[in-house]
Amino acid sequence: MSVGKIHSNEIITLPEPVRDGSMSVEKTLETRRSLRNFSQENLTMEQVGQMLWAAQGITDTRRKFRTAPSAGATFPLDIYLVSGNVEDLEPGVYRYNPESHSISKTMDGDRRDNLYSSALRQGAVRQAPASIIIAAEFQRTTSAYGERGRQYVYMEVGHAGQNIHLQAEALRLGTVVIGAFDEKNVGRVLGLPKETIALYIMPFGKPR
Ligand SMILES: Cc1cc2nc3c(=O)[nH]c(=O)nc-3n(C[C@H](O)[C@H](O)[C@H](O)COP(=O)(O)O)c2cc1C
Repeated sequence: MSVGKIHSNEIITLPEPVRDGSMSVEKTLETRRSLRNFSQENLTMEQVGQMLWAAQGITDTRRKFRTAPSAGATFPLDIYLVSGNVEDLEPGVYRYNPESHSISKTMDGDRRDNLYSSALRQGAVRQAPASIIIAAEFQRTTSAYGERGRQYVYMEVGHAGQNIHLQAEALRLGTVVIGAFDEKNVGRVLGLPKETIALYIMPFGKPR
């Protein structure tokens, strides 16, 4: 398997998300803290699927509405997974498909080192078993709202980021929102389409 090869036809259905966990939202708000030191323990597909669902899962199948609010339901966010140590999942870059709660591989190989180099060498990115990247195609929102739509996209990424943070807490995992990175390099490392801009990197895993 060559590192960095673009790949596009594999679709992996994720385990059904849990919709009624054991920790209250108040407790997750109380205990949430940024985590930057991760155990090397593998993540499971259940944990990965749950985190992706919290980011952008469909919660209203009729209208296709999602876990996070979206200006005019324009849904500019795309969620990517950089997998390193996940049970039953090859290292690679995957794109989350909210409608089918599945992931599609977009690139082969462990990209964590490259991502770390693009994120000012922040150790959390190299150490975590996986990272979620929240990216956006601004045009989906600016075509409805003009320039103001750009601000809406930045607001929206905060909603998705907090969902991921609280979900991590409920799973007894941890994460941190990383905004300090070179967006062009991150785009190259992940093979993002040119109209798609990375906004947050969220490494996640068990606390060390
Ligand atoms: C827009 C934004 C960008 C951030 N970028 C980084 C980052 O690049 N690296 C990092 O370690 N933490 C980053 N953080 C996390 C903050 O450092 C963290 O939330 C803050 O220290 C408060 O700690 P807490 O999250 O545990 O409450 C960022 C937070 C926000 C909201």
